[in-house]
Amino acid sequence: MPIDLYRFFIMFERLQKKWKVGATQLLLIICTFAIGGSLTGYIGKKLMNLLSLERGALWLIVYILLVTLLWPLSVLLVSIFFGQYRFFTQYLRKMGQRMKIIKKNEQFPVSLGSSVDAENKVIRVAIFASGAGSNAKKIIEYLRDSSLISSRVEVALIVCNKPGAGVLQIAAQNHIPTLLIEKERFFRGDAYINELKQLEIDFVVLAGFLWKVPDALIRTYRDRIVNIHPALLPAYGGKGMYGHHVHEAVIASGEKESGITIHYVDEKYDNGDVIFQARCPVVESDTADSLAARIHQLEHLHYPVIIEKLLMGLKQNRG
Ligand code: GRF
Repeated sequence: MPIDLYRFFIMFERLQKKWKVGATQLLLIICTFAIGGSLTGYIGKKLMNLLSLERGALWLIVYILLVTLLWPLSVLLVSIFFGQYRFFTQYLRKMGQRMKIIKKNEQFPVSLGSSVDAENKVIRVAIFASGAGSNAKKIIEYLRDSSLISSRVEVALIVCNKPGAGVLQIAAQNHIPTLLIEKERFFRGDAYINELKQLEIDFVVLAGFLWKVPDALIRTYRDRIVNIHPALLPAYGGKGMYGHHVHEAVIASGEKESGITIHYVDEKYDNGDVIFQARCPVVESDTADSLAARIHQLEHLHYPVIIEKLLMGLKQNRG
């Protein structure tokens, strides 16, 4: 590969990691920068013509000032067409903060309706998952794109107990660090509480995590650890009730309805306070697979939104 192309790929990868974006989004961001820059130059020249200044030092100073003011506006305008408005508002806000033009807890260019400005610390979320990680994926994407809270929340860690689980790939695609836990240390050791503390994890989301969470971890994250269960608790919960076992039991009992339960995690299986439930029908032809698919849709629709709400509440309480 020619050396320049190689350098380009390295730079491309670095930017992806730095900005925590996928390849397609980075391409859209680059296009926005390029077109936004050209638009700035174009409008800048047109305005300078209107001023009809003599070319010289003054002309240059005015032009530089004009372009500096126009650039953020042009880039923001173009970003709307490339679907990158949210990225650029955050990018410009960070630039403004670095240049001390805007204060740390100020939104730029306008508040997007966030009610979580009270404190500037980013809430760091860990997602615990053992399987495919479809819920984890939806949560990561939703929080990253949330106009309410994305700048104040970071999915900072994926905790997994299964080497090769799909969720690890999702973590890699999103450049999120992972912690592969080992049974002995989780149950008989310190349950990795120190690692979580060191990584400043504020909130824990269980999304298809198949081990019971040790009491010490629950105590550390009391009211800041939530789970999703693929049935309407308290029915079809408890030890052994996970994945297909749940759906098989629901179908075998002839239920006409099932659903999802999002709840706080306490020391007993599937027992903590219910935060939210949603229902779906169980039809006669249902198999565990078809019901699981319907339940997954409900989970993907609601779990990220409920987590966003909880995190906003968390932030307000801290503030
Ligand atoms: C979900 O159905 C969830 O309710 C249960 O485990 C499943 C995880 O699925 N706790 P996925 O790995 O998020 O696709």
